[in-house]
Amino acid sequence: MAKFLVDKSGPLFGEVEISGSKNAVLPIMAASILTEDKCEITDVPALRDVDVMCKLLQSVGAKVTEDYSENSIFIETEKIIAEEAPYELVKRMRASILVMGPLLARTGKARISLPGGCAIGARPIELHLKGFRILGAKIVEGHGYVEATVDKLMGGKIYLDFPSVGATENIMMAATLAEGVTIIENAAEEPEIVDLANFLNKMGAKIKGAGTDTIKIEGVQDLHGTKHAVIPDRIETGTFMVAAAMTRGNILIKNVVPDHVKPVIAKLVECGVEIEDGDDGMRVRGDLRPLIATDIKTMPYPGFPTDMQSLFMSFLTTVEGTSVVIETVFENRYMHVGELNRMGANIKVEGKSALIQGKRELQGAQVISTDLRAGAALVLAGLMAEGTTEVSEIYHIERGYSFFMEKLRGLGAKITRIED
Ligand code: UD1
Repeated sequence: MAKFLVDKSGPLFGEVEISGSKNAVLPIMAASILTEDKCEITDVPALRDVDVMCKLLQSVGAKVTEDYSENSIFIETEKIIAEEAPYELVKRMRASILVMGPLLARTGKARISLPGGCAIGARPIELHLKGFRILGAKIVEGHGYVEATVDKLMGGKIYLDFPSVGATENIMMAATLAEGVTIIENAAEEPEIVDLANFLNKMGAKIKGAGTDTIKIEGVQDLHGTKHAVIPDRIETGTFMVAAAMTRGNILIKNVVPDHVKPVIAKLVECGVEIEDGDDGMRVRGDLRPLIATDIKTMPYPGFPTDMQSLFMSFLTTVEGTSVVIETVFENRYMHVGELNRMGANIKVEGKSALIQGKRELQGAQVISTDLRAGAALVLAGLMAEGTTEVSEIYHIERGYSFFMEKLRGLGAKITRIED
């Protein structure tokens, strides 16, 4: 298995281009099987999760072709040949659950193995299933699988107990072809939901209110092919913002939507980082003054994103003062703490809260990438640590960051990839 070797690198400096959003492209790819026409998706990031989604769609009957030079993929699903997502693929990527809504809407049947993916909490799917039930589906939960069947999906009113991103997307996709009107209340408001709704509307769907907590979907007879460019990845953007802050560097980040990273901007500014939004991108400077502690509480969008929590924790170990981080979205998202402490951090976890003592001198160590974002957080810590940090299980990082090593190297980071 591959590893990253990371050496202390000094301030990162230069320009970096952000890729298309992982969390936007995956549901959009799944949605493309709602039509028998060809869909073209552009600004697709080069990620392992995208490869898994390609394989998953092929297994249900989609023809997928790629144009690497243009970062485009074409998906055409004339006929669904299997209503089942195979376990080998589902266990590699939790977002596989997102094919369930489109399969159910297109064929009246969807069967899926219970999902794997990042090991961050139980991550149940009962809200997805509640939505399908209200739309008229019969749900059978067997050993290791869930099956939904329906003659004809009918619109309905669904209140989500928690604004789950995946449940909002799955229900929205299923409802596009249901008879009548569906209303999702307490819906997730993430930019990726808006991007998916824009894609579906270009296919002929009638969706209003995406980006607010109430989404209205008027069912249509069928959907058609379209072309769509994926939004920039706000978590990759945040990662390079933290990289600039953490290394006391100066980075121009290109292809960003500043509105999507508002909470990250606010918190970095509180710490003393300077952020300037210009025509050519967002400049992030951590080199202008001593940086200080801040407190963070993760929340559904537009709150502070849980996907940035481990990256901020890594950064906060290097600033003056003590910070408190509270994780409210996932119940088990502190697995990186042990790894950061091995590198000399002083972080104490008590339930949902973590207390981070700043101004630590980090030391290189052998650490394990416990999930996608935690892996990136450890790489950034390695850039500040004396000696060499060996980050293993980097397949997590490659699931969700496009050319991470190459982009960091372009900014002056000392990082190499080795095969074990
Ligand atoms: C998506 C993102 C992930 C991000 C997360 C929260 C994708 C592919 N992944 O994941 O990067 O960290 O949003 O911003 O877009 N929950 C339930 N029941 C359900 C569904 C969810 O209890 O039926 C809980 C989960 O266990 C978790 C919380 O809701 O504690 C958030 O989950 P959700 O918003 O569904 O996240 P994902 O869509 O899995």
